[in-house]
Amino acid sequence: MSGPKKVKISPSILSADFSDLERSIEDVKSTEWLHLDVMDGHFVPNLTFGPCVIDSIRDKSEHVFDTHLMISNPGGYIDDFVDAGSDIITFHVEAVDDTQNLIEDIKGRETKVGLSLKPGTEFETIEEFLPDIDLILIMTVEPGFSGQEFMEEVVPKIKNARKAVDEKDYDIDIAVDGGISPKTAGKVVDNGANVLVSGSSVFKGDVEKNLRGLRNSIE
Ligand code: DX5
Ligand code: ZN
Repeated sequence: MSGPKKVKISPSILSADFSDLERSIEDVKSTEWLHLDVMDGHFVPNLTFGPCVIDSIRDKSEHVFDTHLMISNPGGYIDDFVDAGSDIITFHVEAVDDTQNLIEDIKGRETKVGLSLKPGTEFETIEEFLPDIDLILIMTVEPGFSGQEFMEEVVPKIKNARKAVDEKDYDIDIAVDGGISPKTAGKVVDNGANVLVSGSSVFKGDVEKNLRGLRNSIE
């Protein structure tokens, strides 16, 4: 039995201070997960970082490393991201032809696997893979940049995901990513999300105060 899950926060380091990443990570040490946004300038119109950055922060943190691959051909890089210390590897269903095959590759490396959906991708696209995955990452902005506005129209997808997961009692986390702040967190949690990815709302300004605000908003 999986049952209701405690809500976890996964701060996205994309909004952190890259000149002092170690301090930024220390600032969020009270959170369960750390969200690592990998972009390739091809699947999304932005570039971020790759496995070497993840590898270099692995021993600075006890977080679950929640790696979000926004790249074309994610299957070509799984070993690199596993070796760098990812605990969960999430890829976009829009980026691959053979989703099942890649799920199996990641699981074969004893790493958890997530599937991510852009705002325009229907939940039904991933329904057949639910027995094999650990995480659904629902984008509530177009992937590519932090600091964008939450897309309200994605909320029914969160609800559909929660319904499908609970109906079969799957042990799957449901994460939301994009524009999550104290203003939007309550709504996504009420609709079934149990992991909150948040970048700018956590790292801009007083991090401790921001985290408190986010936690209070879902109590
Ligand atoms: C966007 C990334 C997000 C981003 C979230 O493509 O996947 O994880 O960092 O940033 P905020 O919380 O500022 O929308
Ligand atoms: Zn992300």
